[in-house]
Amino acid sequence: MRFACFVALLCSPVLAADGNLPPAAKTRVDFDKHIRPLLKSRCAKCHSGEKRKGGFSINTRKTVLDGSESETVVVVGNSAKSLLIGRVAETDPDLRMPPKAQKALTKTEIGLLRAWIDQGLKWKDGFSFGTLHRQAELAPRKVTLPKIPGVTHPIDRLLLGSGIRKNSAGRSNRLGILANFATDHVFARRVWLDLLGLLPPVKELDEFAADNRPDKHARLVARLLADRRAYATHWMTWWSDALRNSYRGTGYIDGGRRQITGWLYQSLHDNKPYDAFVRDLVTGANGAEGFIHGIKWRGTVNDSQRREMQAAQNVAQVFLGTNMKCASCHDSFVNHWKLKQSYAFASVFADKPLELHRCDKPIGKIAQVAFLYPQLGTIDAKASPAERRKQLAAIITSKKNGRLSRTIVNRLWAWFFGRGIVEPLDDMDQPPWNQDLLDWLASDLAAHKYDLKRTMTLICTSRAYRMKADPGDFRKSLGPERFTFRGPLVKRMTAEQFGDAVSTLTGVWPKPTRSMQRRDGRGQGGQLAAIAKSVPSIRKQPSKTVRCVFLDANPLLTAMGRPIREQVVTRRDSQATTLQLLELTNGKTLDSQLKAGAKRWLEQSGKSPDDLIARLYRIALSRKPTAEEVKVARGFLGEKPTVESVQDLLWIVAMLPEFQLVR
Ligand code: HEC
Ligand code: HEC
Repeated sequence: MRFACFVALLCSPVLAADGNLPPAAKTRVDFDKHIRPLLKSRCAKCHSGEKRKGGFSINTRKTVLDGSESETVVVVGNSAKSLLIGRVAETDPDLRMPPKAQKALTKTEIGLLRAWIDQGLKWKDGFSFGTLHRQAELAPRKVTLPKIPGVTHPIDRLLLGSGIRKNSAGRSNRLGILANFATDHVFARRVWLDLLGLLPPVKELDEFAADNRPDKHARLVARLLADRRAYATHWMTWWSDALRNSYRGTGYIDGGRRQITGWLYQSLHDNKPYDAFVRDLVTGANGAEGFIHGIKWRGTVNDSQRREMQAAQNVAQVFLGTNMKCASCHDSFVNHWKLKQSYAFASVFADKPLELHRCDKPIGKIAQVAFLYPQLGTIDAKASPAERRKQLAAIITSKKNGRLSRTIVNRLWAWFFGRGIVEPLDDMDQPPWNQDLLDWLASDLAAHKYDLKRTMTLICTSRAYRMKADPGDFRKSLGPERFTFRGPLVKRMTAEQFGDAVSTLTGVWPKPTRSMQRRDGRGQGGQLAAIAKSVPSIRKQPSKTVRCVFLDANPLLTAMGRPIREQVVTRRDSQATTLQLLELTNGKTLDSQLKAGAKRWLEQSGKSPDDLIARLYRIALSRKPTAEEVKVARGFLGEKPTVESVQDLLWIVAMLPEFQLVR
């Protein structure tokens, strides 16, 4: 007893501060997953948009920090001292938030809010509860390019015209900002990786650096984009993520799922105009039916996962940049979509009328058949499903629908620059940081036969793209109104870029396996067989080696972030993980490749260690080693390099951030 009292005495100051608060959650809090839906469903009604009860608004991180009329509501890092927690944990229903009639938050929910505050009040860049129900203009918009003396490139004019830095003094100063260029070697490495996913060959790098023609950047971009094989191979990764195209896994064996590899490769290889590309996918024509077909899950699944719902969700997300997922079991908490709109859109893809289900329960209502944006066109409910999909494709790709081109140019911009003009990429209703830039790029694409390579050329030939990379992390930066363009952000290589870069470095490339080349009548078969079937030039001249995109998933690729492709992925996670670290240090895939590579280096070099070191650096990092680096590497290799010592050196180089980043 006495002991207990003693402890209570000792602890009481702490207890006083902490009250009887439920403990903070121990997990790492994810704003999108844990906090955003909670605030949206329980607080937004009275504290967001125009509403600021008690003078407190949760619209943005800043308004949360600003607090209420009279008080600080959140003390970052100290949830126990935060009024917000005090009010949600309050036992007096007159004081508790949400108030009175509404049910109190659970201990778990309060714990999450506490952890959120304790862990620094993380927010999603650009996200505002105030704009949750904002609906962006769908129609295309004509933008007149501003006149900037001495600057001709449209992107640069748009950036300069709207003031790259709001507080920049004069025009010359602004121009200076777009002149802080990366070196030739850095630029070449960047554009090679961005466009083709490969490290630049040393010889070509030297030629580029030695070239004195003023248009050499544009020439390089054009030449890379003309390499149809390398281009198609590289962009397969990007599109397979978005279109959930995988080669094997759930559903492939029993026909519950179909790959679109052959169609996709051919479309990229031939640079199919984007409107035709989308038409194929929406109608399921020419070998693209796997996309709409979706995944037939085994066993019973929730109604929100039926194929028609998948089709609706994926078309909406990939082509129109809007999220229907959260509206497929109940009205959405993250945007304006309602359950009935989800079902109406899904019905476009259905063979028979769909009954609305709220979560798991049928609610006795039959869905209508309607497109998400009726102002763009209607779909004939009586037409056959195939005919309805044709109508849908026509509406989505019509010139009136500026959303289609805005969504894709924004995704491309994000790929090259690391951050979209609109963020998140799948929420095109959010405000862009440069409306003119977005609208101009979109209209330009539509006006030029939806030629995606044209947009890529525009981007890669701008001064903006040539700038030194910005090492900042935009996720930590503020919303669109505060975003400052300072050049392309430093990006992490994708799993495929990394794997191919290691192959370039070691000279050891994977070989096609039998299962990749296996054919079968139903257009499934192996991934390489599917491509050979669709592209005559590949059939005649198959490649003897394979790039990572065509490999079946392996532990290294998975650890480095290749998704399993059961969900649409429009951006890879750029955060390094523990799994990655383990795989990079102890994984068999990398280890055996480096070992084989070391043998090759030894056989081929035959020259001095210095020569080996110099070549290795040039291949891996597109530059010469510094004197210091030579010294250290030589220390490793000794007078007579061995397989082990060369392998160590290869590993060290492959682990350098400089190797793994696109700068
Ligand atoms: C039904 C409307 C409603 C909902 C829902 C609601 N609030 Fe409130 N909130 C109010 C009103 C009204 C006040 C002002 C009166 C008061 O302080 O009790 C207020 C005041 C507050 C204050 C205090 C401001 C101050 O300085 O006194 C905080 C903090 C707060 N709310 C947080 C929240 C949080 C967090 C949620 C969600 C978990 C939430 N509220 C949900 C209506 C609401
Ligand atoms: C597979 C069906 C399903 C999907 C998809 C789904 N939810 Fe839910 N959600 C539920 C169920 C079931 C509940 C329980 C409460 C109810 O019946 O409304 C719920 C409740 C919620 C609540 C709490 C509502 C409240 O008033 O307390 C939030 C917030 C929420 N969901 C957010 C989301 C978000 C955000 C998404 C999209 C990422 C999403 N949900 C997608 C099934 C789903």
